[in-house]
Amino acid sequence: MKFFIDTANLDQIKEAQDLGVLDGVTTNPSLMAKEGITGEANVIAHYKAICAIVDDNVSAEVISTTYDEMIKEGEALAQLDPKIVVKIPMIKDGVKAIKYLTGKGIRTNCTLIFSPGQALLAAKAGASYVSPFLGRLDDISVDGLALIEEIRLIFDNYGYATEILAASIRGPLHIVSCAKLGADVITAPLSAITALLKHPLTDSGLATFLADHKKAAEAAK
Ligand code: E4P
Repeated sequence: MKFFIDTANLDQIKEAQDLGVLDGVTTNPSLMAKEGITGEANVIAHYKAICAIVDDNVSAEVISTTYDEMIKEGEALAQLDPKIVVKIPMIKDGVKAIKYLTGKGIRTNCTLIFSPGQALLAAKAGASYVSPFLGRLDDISVDGLALIEEIRLIFDNYGYATEILAASIRGPLHIVSCAKLGADVITAPLSAITALLKHPLTDSGLATFLADHKKAAEAAK
């Protein structure tokens, strides 16, 4: 399973990259705004800075919503760096734009997926990734993980190469559940990724190992 970090914060991206388990980054206009990145030139510079940190798979989201504008913006984003994956919203013109960009050899990530039918349409159009938003479904009392399961079944039935990128992840259990269900990728905040490290028995076990080693070394003196 691939691990992407869901942030536009360069320090957090570096920290995840340094951990040695990072396969990519997802951003969105809200995450860019949270880092205070505004204006075309700054946005472009920020995408380039992210690409300089990671090995591949930097999702850059279009902010236009018509076919003509989306393909123009998508092509411009793709030209910034070969690591860029153009993120397109699940709307009618978005599906058409995915089809066009895929035909041009540009990778796409269809975002804001909340139903299996939307994922199927994006896969038919040739999206490289579909991003079902688990946490936002959970927030409205709809089972987000069930959506991953349904999309997995549909994609496997027909052998779609489109990868399921589980998004809107809220914590470590979401990541583990996605792994069990066969999501190809998760994108999560750094806190959810590093929470996977933690177990109290690991901490107490390590403390005992080190204490026993110290005792034995002192006894041997
Ligand atoms: C996906 O690529 C989105 O950036 C993201 O996962 C949205 O998650 P949120 O519900 O935490 O905003």
